[in-house]
Amino acid sequence: MSMDGAPLSNAQARDVEALLHPYTNAVQHRKTGPHVIETGEGVYVYDEDGKRYIEGMAGLWCAGLGFGDAELIDAAKEQLDKLPYYHLFGGRSFEPAIELAEKLKDIAPVPVSKVIYQSSGSEANDTQIKLAWYYNNARGKPEKKKIISRVKGYHGVTIVSASLTGLPYNHKHFDLPVDRIMHTGTPHFWREAKDGETETEFSARLAAELEEMIIREDPDTVAAFIAEPVMGAGGVIVPPEGYFPAIQAVLEKYDILCIADEVITGFGRTGNWFGSQTFGMQPTSISMAKQLTAAYAPLSAVAINHDMAEAIESQSGEVGVFGHGFTYGGHPLGCAMGVKTLEIYEKRNIVGHVRDMSPLFKQHMNRLAQHELVGEARVSGLMGGLELSPDPSSAATFANPGKVAPYLSNELLKHSIILRAIGDTLAFCPPMIINEDEINALFEPIETALDATTVWAKAEGHLG
Ligand SMILES: Cc1ncc(COP(=O)(O)O)c(C=O)c1O
Repeated sequence: MSMDGAPLSNAQARDVEALLHPYTNAVQHRKTGPHVIETGEGVYVYDEDGKRYIEGMAGLWCAGLGFGDAELIDAAKEQLDKLPYYHLFGGRSFEPAIELAEKLKDIAPVPVSKVIYQSSGSEANDTQIKLAWYYNNARGKPEKKKIISRVKGYHGVTIVSASLTGLPYNHKHFDLPVDRIMHTGTPHFWREAKDGETETEFSARLAAELEEMIIREDPDTVAAFIAEPVMGAGGVIVPPEGYFPAIQAVLEKYDILCIADEVITGFGRTGNWFGSQTFGMQPTSISMAKQLTAAYAPLSAVAINHDMAEAIESQSGEVGVFGHGFTYGGHPLGCAMGVKTLEIYEKRNIVGHVRDMSPLFKQHMNRLAQHELVGEARVSGLMGGLELSPDPSSAATFANPGKVAPYLSNELLKHSIILRAIGDTLAFCPPMIINEDEINALFEPIETALDATTVWAKAEGHLG
């Protein structure tokens, strides 16, 4: 029986027998079956019944150019014809890998010396930590190895990147986090600020708490701090005024690397090429993925500064080889998609388009913030979070968390809108190509769906 009570389709029935789905309740899934998506065009996807949806999350924050882009598809075919696979091991190379690295160096928010490729955001962040350790060994600081991440930060699911992730369900029953990784506070002003505290004061307090942690742990043992410019999967948490400059000063004082996880915020999402530029972050290295290829092929990249590159290169000379790399890291198809995607971003002025669309997007979010079920609306460029609350005036959380926003996102499915519930926040991250009419269409049914959710939440006792 599917979600709407209909018998499972052929694809649904086969799916429940054959697949274990990521980030899915497997018990529930067996009953409801999957939502099978068949095709996509622009900001829309179509399911197996031919029903059309606005993909308000660009898939998983990644399909920045939407679906069915002919230029990208042609570039993919061309690359597959020419060289479907090669690698970068043992000093081999190929043109798209070189060209993309050059382009990334050109547009990076800080001076970058070298780029190293992987296939996913998790692998990029795993690589970041290995590089930080390798670098500190190379520069004669073998004790300097601990990594500070943040509660609610999201950095992926490999053993180390899941440890960096500061969300309970990524740790529980996986025996994580591993040691040498710790978490400092979440920069969520609305929820975490003390009475009367300004945004700048709140940022200064978080920086002071970070400094206390570093001193407590011993600065000579702390290698790096990792952060997303805007927390995505932790609930679209936009940092308060002065946050990164305050954090940055602490990191510099104790010679601690600053890793920017730009996996979601990179390539225009916040209205600049990188979220680091929007929020005054000065990273020593950067993780990139997702919109790097507009999600037309898997690829991630880590960009490192001159000091790190130099130390790592000379260390590899001493060891005899740089003992790291993935079979598909820098796959020619991914690199060709990266080159073409960046070319399209520039040619179609996608960053400018995000800036042009952002006020309308924000206007809709601010309007919804007035709804009785909405506690806070958070926006940066074309990403947003609508946090639901039983009592918006006190930033209260639901007694039974993670039930109300999923109900709302299911309601929205009936209205042909795909948005994702993260706890009790409804997340928005539409393809960056979305136009005014499509933004209006995306928001059009949300108030009605919020009203229906309120009625249900009252009946279920979620509103006290
Ligand atoms: C900020 C951030 N870092 C890392 C990752 C992990 O990327 P992947 O799922 O490609 O491993 C994600 C995925 O959503 C992310 O949002």
